[in-house]
Amino acid sequence: MMSKFMEWVDARFPATKMWEDHLSKYYAPKNFNFFYFFGSLALLVLVNQIVTGVWLTMSYNPSAEEAFASVEYIMRDVEYGWILRYLHSTGASAFFVVVYLHMFRGLLYGSYQKPRELVWIFGMLIYLMLMAEAFMGYLLPWGQMSYWGAQVIISLFGAIPVIGADLTQWIRGDYLISGITLNRFFALHVVALPIVILGLVVLHILALHEVGSNNPDGVEIKKKKDANGIPLDGIPFHPYYTVKDIVGVVVFLFIFCFVVFFFPEMGGYFLEKPNFEVANPFKTPAHIAPVWYFTPFYAILRAIPDKLMGVIAMGAAIAILFVLPWLDRSPVKSMRYKGWLSKIWLLVFCVSFVILGVLGVLAPTPGRTLLAQVCTFLYFAYFILMPFYTRMEKTKPVPERVTG
Ligand code: HEM
Repeated sequence: MMSKFMEWVDARFPATKMWEDHLSKYYAPKNFNFFYFFGSLALLVLVNQIVTGVWLTMSYNPSAEEAFASVEYIMRDVEYGWILRYLHSTGASAFFVVVYLHMFRGLLYGSYQKPRELVWIFGMLIYLMLMAEAFMGYLLPWGQMSYWGAQVIISLFGAIPVIGADLTQWIRGDYLISGITLNRFFALHVVALPIVILGLVVLHILALHEVGSNNPDGVEIKKKKDANGIPLDGIPFHPYYTVKDIVGVVVFLFIFCFVVFFFPEMGGYFLEKPNFEVANPFKTPAHIAPVWYFTPFYAILRAIPDKLMGVIAMGAAIAILFVLPWLDRSPVKSMRYKGWLSKIWLLVFCVSFVILGVLGVLAPTPGRTLLAQVCTFLYFAYFILMPFYTRMEKTKPVPERVTG
């Protein structure tokens, strides 16, 4: 019955071909490790955001008068509304945890290097869209931090010479952040950006499957094939990695549910305290800080005394990641075989990024600003010096086949 049905479908739609190309006959390196869980986990969180988002939208009201109250209504009166909201708000932070670890894996194993430049570029576009998505979503509860956070970020566009003032007004659709801004952010958050993100994820995976996955050794498994043309170090993604990824999903869901049920606000880092107060355009909160996943870039912005230069530095901090595949001139991919200069610089970069993240949460003092300046310098030095230290250093010989 089933095979007859599949024959009927396959004559009209490439269902079996797609299943084979992307799962049962997609040969992935056999040495995937812990860091390879985060791609499938990013997919899981994406689905969680879309499903909970659709259900939240059923009871949320995107108007300046009703938005805050409708969120409280969801929390108190809508059946299971509280869990939908906490799954969505915790999901936003989880998304960035997962995506940052996923990107770190890329840095660790040189997964952005030839021939995976487009996989990386599509990934960076996803990251950019994800930041826009999170920023717009944060305005929707119409709390104090929603309002003032958006105020700070939108006013940054005002630093652009000549067009700045008109541009900010165009983004807001009003002379100040108002219900009009809320309405358009809602449209972008629930319709436009999710479509773009989904499309980019499809392109990301298609680009990856065209060239094949990298691995912790950075060895191209397609170079060594058996008589049937199957990579000697490859195993079919399904069932091997589908089953392995389920283990990752279970562990992830344990941690995720623990946060959702016991620490949904995460001490003010996932849901900030001022956001439990309705937006008030006449009362600026004493301390405005973005949500944790934006704070490294916010710290870079504040480290530079001039507003326009700060905005440029912040934009450059993200833009430089796009050209990473062309900055790394190392003959090897994985950190396992790179020299100690690459290892030290990756460590310096990660530590600077974390310190900037912490500084971005705290109120600035002269000492903290100096530290932020040092970390900003190191952040950029990691990239700008990369063409030099990756060529200078002595690398270890890469094995013919994957190890372990
Ligand atoms: C919604 C967000 C994202 C989703 C759903 C996603 C999904 C995936 C999946 C399923 C894989 C294959 C499994 C794996 O290698 O872990 C993958 C690989 C990859 N992703 Fe992403 N990704 C996302 C964001 C990003 C971002 C932001 C970047 C970097 C800028 C990135 C860079 C890469 C790279 C370089 C690979 C290939 C890794 C390798 O073969 O070693 N991805 N992604």
